[in-house]
Amino acid sequence: MTHVIQDDPAAGSVTARVPAKVNLQLSVGPLRDDGYHDLVTVFHAVSLFDEVTVTSAERTSVVVSGEGGPAVPLGPANLAVRAAVALARATGRRGKGLGGVKIEIRKRIPVAAGLAGGSADAAAALVACNELWRAGLSTAKLSEIGAQIGSDVPFALIGGTAVGLGRGERLTRALVSGSYHWVLAFGATGLPTPDVFAACDRLRAARAKDDEAPDVPAPRLSTKLMAALRSGDPAAVGPLLTNDLQPAALSLQPLLRRALQAGKEHGALGAMVSGSGPTCAFLAADANAARDLAVADTGAGVCRAVVQVSGPAPGASVVESGALA
Ligand code: C5P
Repeated sequence: MTHVIQDDPAAGSVTARVPAKVNLQLSVGPLRDDGYHDLVTVFHAVSLFDEVTVTSAERTSVVVSGEGGPAVPLGPANLAVRAAVALARATGRRGKGLGGVKIEIRKRIPVAAGLAGGSADAAAALVACNELWRAGLSTAKLSEIGAQIGSDVPFALIGGTAVGLGRGERLTRALVSGSYHWVLAFGATGLPTPDVFAACDRLRAARAKDDEAPDVPAPRLSTKLMAALRSGDPAAVGPLLTNDLQPAALSLQPLLRRALQAGKEHGALGAMVSGSGPTCAFLAADANAARDLAVADTGAGVCRAVVQVSGPAPGASVVESGALA
């Protein structure tokens, strides 16, 4: 039963859907003083969606079901909760007893997988609460609030394909032709993003000469990749996929090498670890080739599960609104 607060002018229930992302380029600059790294990245949203329903309630709470649900924190550390609280504060609802929501997250995006699932749920919560509360905030304003919660939240709001700078939160849409067919191979255990960035720093330090700081060049956008994406030819895009975090992810989970190798042997046009991993993303020529690749990868037994997706997918959007004006 839904508990509706009597004096709340915007009671009811809203559901938003939000995509996972892969990074077509992930170039990592030196460690900054604030603990983050400057990035040049090309985000690409894919058709693997979480759903988040928000319902007016006296107090904010969260329940999580689906893929990896038990691993998702249920307290204030939950990124969707943090997003709802931040939006309530930004719109002046908090403190008036009107900013409570029950948040239900139905996960298909695995947790700690390099697919930005946590940021996706935060983005969906922002979009859903914005509708529930009839707050009318622009995507730019939601993005500003979301960037405080996770570096990938702004991209989850817009979806598509976009170049990300800074921590990944400064976005410019990229011109992309056609759609791309992917196979995602999920690992048996997750990889926490901070651990992978830290391993990247360690590998760089180990390569540096004695007593010298690692010489990490400022990352630059690949103009070749951008041209290939404009051409719409997956065979041109495949060899240009790059991820500076891949060696770090492989150092933490060496078995990922076998999964990448299996994908290449089964005809992938490009194979890489997605973001901080451990998900491996394989680019296929078309939907049929992706299906064959998914079957072959499943048979090879080098990953926990395999899904077939396509991109670019749209960003977080309301799919069902029972908001009572
Ligand atoms: O922004 P978010 O909370 O998703 O980042 C998680 C962690 O990933 C950060 O605490 C940091 O360790 C690492 N990170 C980074 N540089 C970035 C983005 C994330 O070092 N640009």
